[in-house]
Amino acid sequence: MPINLPANSKMLNQDFIFGVATAAFQIEGAAQSDNRLPSIWDTFCATPGKVKGMDNGDIACDHYHLWEQDIQLIKQLKVDAYRLSIAWPRVMDKEGKANQAGLDFYRRLLKKLKDEGLTVFVTLYHWDLPQHLEDKGGWLNRETAYQFTKYADLVTKELGEWVDSWATFNEPFCAAFLGYELGIHAPGLNKPEYGRQAAHHILLAHGLALPIIRKNAPKSQVGIVLNMNRSYAASEKTEDQFACLVRETLDNQFFIEPLMKGQYPQLLKTVAPQYLPTVLPGDMDIISQPIDFLGMNFYTCNHNAFDADNLFKNVKNHRSVEYTDIGWEIAPHAFAELLVNLHKQYTLPPIYITENGAACADQLIDGDVNDEQRIRYLEGHLNAVHQAIESGVDIRGYFAWSLMDNFEWAEGYSKRFGLTYVDYQTQKRTIKRSGYEYRDFLNSRKG
Ligand code: FCB
Repeated sequence: MPINLPANSKMLNQDFIFGVATAAFQIEGAAQSDNRLPSIWDTFCATPGKVKGMDNGDIACDHYHLWEQDIQLIKQLKVDAYRLSIAWPRVMDKEGKANQAGLDFYRRLLKKLKDEGLTVFVTLYHWDLPQHLEDKGGWLNRETAYQFTKYADLVTKELGEWVDSWATFNEPFCAAFLGYELGIHAPGLNKPEYGRQAAHHILLAHGLALPIIRKNAPKSQVGIVLNMNRSYAASEKTEDQFACLVRETLDNQFFIEPLMKGQYPQLLKTVAPQYLPTVLPGDMDIISQPIDFLGMNFYTCNHNAFDADNLFKNVKNHRSVEYTDIGWEIAPHAFAELLVNLHKQYTLPPIYITENGAACADQLIDGDVNDEQRIRYLEGHLNAVHQAIESGVDIRGYFAWSLMDNFEWAEGYSKRFGLTYVDYQTQKRTIKRSGYEYRDFLNSRKG
């Protein structure tokens, strides 16, 4: 079952880039090697009841040692680009000085990626905050934003020559809201007022780091990666429509509006002022400086009904729809709608789809993983990107999540998102049928 796009699709032009993505904590392992400091995810994994099976990132995909073979895997998939993240606790000591051993790992990795002709997208923060900074309040402490600028300065100075595109943060929503308000991600705090304040400090850190990155890496593009869902109302009832609006505002607008317009959503002032963070004079100007690109991660949509206590509650789609192995509804139409809606609401910079993919209950049988649901998922979502482009959205690239199965945060190793299957006992990688179909699709492009 091949992956197809309309023959005239702009995505088939050479300048549209296709890639695969990963993140440091999810694949690297080597948690104690070369002076790496503990991160909030190490602590969280070691706390009983937080991560399924008490899995941790000590070994993960052992990419820290198998990186050369993993670059060959990337090459086999025939992608143009690779998106990875740097582990802050690997490259800086507690005093803020460079840890050369950790930096050397990334130097070797990035140099090799460039030698292999790949376009390299790097995310500075994909959730692995050094634990010593969490001990001082983490993202609830404004000072962490200033610490981030030192880290961004170091990394972009040391590694800038091999990086085409820098993203400051991956998914501030998840880092702040899941980590500080719902407690289902590290550091596992859960107070209602925490999520928004942590988010504000993350956005502030993004803005403070922008000029530093631009100075150190003038030839690279700089942006940020947001995760976005399409929200639907559970019914036509006014209260459900309202619930949907609140959800959309808190999940999406809360992050994109400050970046694009320098303000938090006005709606919150009236309907949910408790969700507004403390903002100091000048913060919003810092946050809303122009960016070269917006990274967007998309997986699913949600359905919302009114709830007297929380304004909205998540409900299941009443229609019979298909879900992935992590319970997320498959909704490519929602992806196209979301992109077009955002395009109508904002003057957006160029967009890269920095993550999109499906968790499937993959089975390795005689060297073959027949993940037909993932192939359909990819084809549906690639076509959604195509439709959005046809509607005028400026989208420049697409990264499948993920290069290989890996540590799926609170789900541990139980959920597999890879185009490549990882046997965690032997660390053997096996390209799944989706990986081959993605490769064949990319090979079929002209030029
Ligand atoms: C995103 C994360 C990524 C991965 C996918 C499934 O929210 O950015 O690391 O876990 O979800």
